[in-house]
Amino acid sequence: MTRYEQIIKELPLNPKTWLITGVAGFIGSNLLEKLLKLDQKVVGLDNFATGHQRNLDEVQSLVTAEQWARFRFIDGDIRNFDDCQNACTGIDYVLHQAALGSVPRSINDPITTNATNIDGFLNMLVAARDANVSSFTYAASSSTYGDHPALPKVEDVIGKPLSPYAVTKYVNELYAEVFARSYGLNTIGLRYFNVFGRRQDPDGAYAAVIPKWVAAMIKGKDVLINGDGETSRDFCYIENTVQANILAATTVDTSASNQVYNVAVGERTSLNELHRLLKMCLAKEGVEYSSKPVYVEFRAGDVRHSQADISKAERLLGYQPSYNIEAGMNEAVSWYIDFSSRYF
Ligand SMILES: NC(=O)c1ccc[n+]([C@@H]2O[C@H](COP(=O)([O-])OP(=O)(O)OC[C@H]3O[C@@H](n4cnc5c(N)ncnc54)[C@H](O)[C@@H]3O)[C@@H](O)[C@H]2O)c1
Repeated sequence: MTRYEQIIKELPLNPKTWLITGVAGFIGSNLLEKLLKLDQKVVGLDNFATGHQRNLDEVQSLVTAEQWARFRFIDGDIRNFDDCQNACTGIDYVLHQAALGSVPRSINDPITTNATNIDGFLNMLVAARDANVSSFTYAASSSTYGDHPALPKVEDVIGKPLSPYAVTKYVNELYAEVFARSYGLNTIGLRYFNVFGRRQDPDGAYAAVIPKWVAAMIKGKDVLINGDGETSRDFCYIENTVQANILAATTVDTSASNQVYNVAVGERTSLNELHRLLKMCLAKEGVEYSSKPVYVEFRAGDVRHSQADISKAERLLGYQPSYNIEAGMNEAVSWYIDFSSRYF
């Protein structure tokens, strides 16, 4: 039995109280769904900056009334210290996901990104420290590798940040380490690499590539590729990300704490390959898309290639990604087809 299987078996027998910040967002709502299905108590904090009530409604529809009753939602802002304090009261495990994502958003508005991702992060660290939580797991980012060309990415070898967003995510790691040293707070940073799956927002100027493209393909619109399409990413299905969070939060191995970990699959897919894969997955669901991609200029701040070495998370957390990109994409695409029939 893997460590994850063991924990999934044991958690319902010994329920804990979890705080998920950014609970109305993509990753947060998937963490909520999983934890409620495991009969955990969950407090969720969100200000709906980029999250949606519909994500919470969908989770409610997927769990029992009894499980939903174990969820308390706080409509609040991590930039407000009182909201953080209120949310952290009585919490065992914090899963801090709230932030403003997107490299282009941070280039357009670095002040708001900084306030949320750094001031808000610091508020959460202080509130979690004061509430004496057992662990503080937070969403770090592969953007921290910046301009370092080495592949695959190993946690200790980073370059210079390429965007304000990347600066904020690196500062989070520095603060978390200092809180571990100075106050004994048990922190773990998870450097996510292009997570995708159900409830990832396909809308708006800052949508991530997979939901944006799937939505365009379903509507028969053109798909724009920034650059020559050979830019590559380690796309990671949401189930793997949920697994990493639960493993990180519950670890009692002191050598595993106060570290950062890559969370990905360890494979690399170019945007051209992604385009072909999406067409194939849609065709399996009866949606034919035959248009070729339209190539436009490269985007400022984007890293050219990204691929994770996941051996540290495998070794110290027992992480074993259970979905590769294709398996995840099949599930994600069928969710998007259903979603677009409801919302577009
Ligand atoms: N999705 C990815 O591929 C990816 C990759 C690397 C890192 N991350 C990080 O993972 C985390 C979750 O990302 P996501 O993809 O679910 O994005 P998301 O935008 O769907 O979720 C973020 C949530 O945080 C909330 N939020 C934003 N500002 C807030 C504030 N001031 N107070 C309270 N809530 C606030 C939003 O309303 C939203 O619900 C973020 O920290 C992001 O930087 C994501």
